[in-house]
Amino acid sequence: MKTTFPKHILLGITGGIAAYKAAELARLLSKQGVEVRAAMTEAACHFIAPATLQALTGRPVLLDQWNDANGGMAHIDAGRAADAIVVAPATADFIAKLATGLAGDLLSTLCLARDCPLIVAPAMNRQMWASAATQRNVEQLRRDGVIVLGPVSGELACGEEGMGRMLEPEDLVREILAALGSGVLAGVRVMVTAGPTYEAIDAVRGLTNRSSGKMGYAVARAARELGAEVTLISGSTALAKPAGVQVVDVVSAGEMLNAVEQRVADADIFIGVAAVADYRPAQPQEQKIKKSEAALTLELQPTPDILARVAARPQPPFCVGFAAESENLREYAAAKRREKNLQLIAANLAQDAIGSDDNELLLLDDDGEHLLPRADKLTLARGLMQHVARLYFQGRNDK
Ligand code: C5P
Repeated sequence: MKTTFPKHILLGITGGIAAYKAAELARLLSKQGVEVRAAMTEAACHFIAPATLQALTGRPVLLDQWNDANGGMAHIDAGRAADAIVVAPATADFIAKLATGLAGDLLSTLCLARDCPLIVAPAMNRQMWASAATQRNVEQLRRDGVIVLGPVSGELACGEEGMGRMLEPEDLVREILAALGSGVLAGVRVMVTAGPTYEAIDAVRGLTNRSSGKMGYAVARAARELGAEVTLISGSTALAKPAGVQVVDVVSAGEMLNAVEQRVADADIFIGVAAVADYRPAQPQEQKIKKSEAALTLELQPTPDILARVAARPQPPFCVGFAAESENLREYAAAKRREKNLQLIAANLAQDAIGSDDNELLLLDDDGEHLLPRADKLTLARGLMQHVARLYFQGRNDK
């Protein structure tokens, strides 16, 4: 399996309360074998002592552009040695500096003079994050090719709840490595379907199901963490878009099929997690159907089986399906794998799976069965993607 791993990361720390988490980030990155060099702004030093970062990284911390003991050009040299610069936490003030290209201190100068990827992990109060100026600046950074990781919603240092919390250090490590294309699936294109579909009966009513999209989103995220290029075709959900994943929103099974067919020729791996409606009204009404005392009969027709169609393509991607069954899990799932011609199927009990946070997956492939024991959906998705990656490369090597 191909892996490209960053050897040197320049970790920029700016002045927010989340600065204390940069110590853990430095520790986790070092544990992965990355050489970390920290650069701190003056404000960051009010929140965490440079000595802490020096001890954790084993190297002097870059603090001042006017005080380069080596007589070199610290503002250029340190950035040049790095495979990436990661600014975590990145304050609203620092993001504004980056967006305008200001370079009044060592860290912003390093960012401006770099020739490697720049990753920022914003952390701030929710109103600062939501402000028009910050949103404009973040948008500008994205347009400039800067990778923005987070923030997420949660408890903030100011005691409020909301958007603005920095990603946790362990999540940041995964996202950083994925963003740098360091995982086993680097360069592999993965397409995932997720969520429910909604089949219109009339202008306001429809048929749908209780799928939350959590499993599909977790699978997309886990694939991204392994470095894959991920496209997520998503029915309506209330979930935040996973970082670094291209999301295509759809509503009905028909729309999901179109979105998949337009893009699937480019996919190496296809994972159908969506709970696609099996039937749709044969004649959806444009206007709202008026209520009456008489019984109403709806004629339903089957929807296209998206996964089966993808697997039946002349040059199909590696196909993975999900089977939610309420009984006879093994037999029904194995039959489904055969009928749809899938390399792998992940079977789960419908009553456990739909809409819940935890689940248990039984993976069925040519080699037999593998149980992923009860866990939260992201843990299961990571286990599933490790398994998928193994089978995918095995298949390619066998060819
Ligand atoms: O046949 P069944 O609906 O149980 O199959 C489930 C698997 O097939 C899931 O992977 C689901 O995403 C996929 N599927 C599909 N299109 C359909 C029905 C199911 O892609 N119309």
